[in-house]
Amino acid sequence: MHVESFFDPATGTLSYVVHDGRAGIVIDPLRDYDPKSGRTSWASSEQIAAYVDRLGLTLPYVIDTHAHADHMTGLPFFRERYGARSVTGARVGEVQRAFRAIYDLPADFPVDGSQFDVLIDEGKRLGFGSLEVEALHTPGHTPAHMSWRVGDAVFLGDTLFMPDYGTARCDFPGGSAGELYDSIQRIYAFPDDTRLFVCHDYQPGGRPLAYQTTVLEQKRHNVQIDQHTTREAYVAFREQRDATLDAPALILPSLQVNIRAGDLPEPSANGTVFLKIPLDVL
Ligand SMILES: [Fe+2]
Repeated sequence: MHVESFFDPATGTLSYVVHDGRAGIVIDPLRDYDPKSGRTSWASSEQIAAYVDRLGLTLPYVIDTHAHADHMTGLPFFRERYGARSVTGARVGEVQRAFRAIYDLPADFPVDGSQFDVLIDEGKRLGFGSLEVEALHTPGHTPAHMSWRVGDAVFLGDTLFMPDYGTARCDFPGGSAGELYDSIQRIYAFPDDTRLFVCHDYQPGGRPLAYQTTVLEQKRHNVQIDQHTTREAYVAFREQRDATLDAPALILPSLQVNIRAGDLPEPSANGTVFLKIPLDVL
């Protein structure tokens, strides 16, 4: 089993390819989006594709850990180029329903997750080559959020960040600090040497990029939730902290794309795609 990471400095996002030399999965790829010019590109996903092509991997699945609020997902790129089936957590409809209202999308906008090829429930597994990936429902940051275990590695999405940065915010629609606490306890129940891979790194204090840690390191050193932190203390801390945070820069552009499994809205009559920015609702 091999894990290859790809870092997007513009959004601090880490994407992963997990493979056995023959078949692989891609976790949390992105579509680049420049909010100043409104220009999109597949430059980041092309970097992953170059790696996939160099090894000649097949890609049965491309996975989003959750509906991201800080970047547009790259699921469509891997669907179209490699025939990968797009996968996300079965409860994504709850996120779609919340954001259908926020964007005032038509009543027939599906909120059953049908834009994705595969909706996965807790404990379900998908095989690829000689490996398999198991879905772990880890709500808190979003209600549908899943972490993904392959062998001794867990891809955390936005549950935990590196120990020196802490944990994900829980103030988006359907988020819950108590649920995130419980999800993190699930992660902490894995063997101490379980490898953990984060979805973002913001390089606090200017330290070099880091994205891989272990259960033991998190339990000992996570600055927001170590092995002694009580649920009550964590929830109080998280809710207080979240109340001070600005909205992520790309939440409004991103979510309307991500709840469509990464497809852009239908173009206008002149062929241009427009995003909707609701004022004064977040
Ligand atoms: Fe997120």
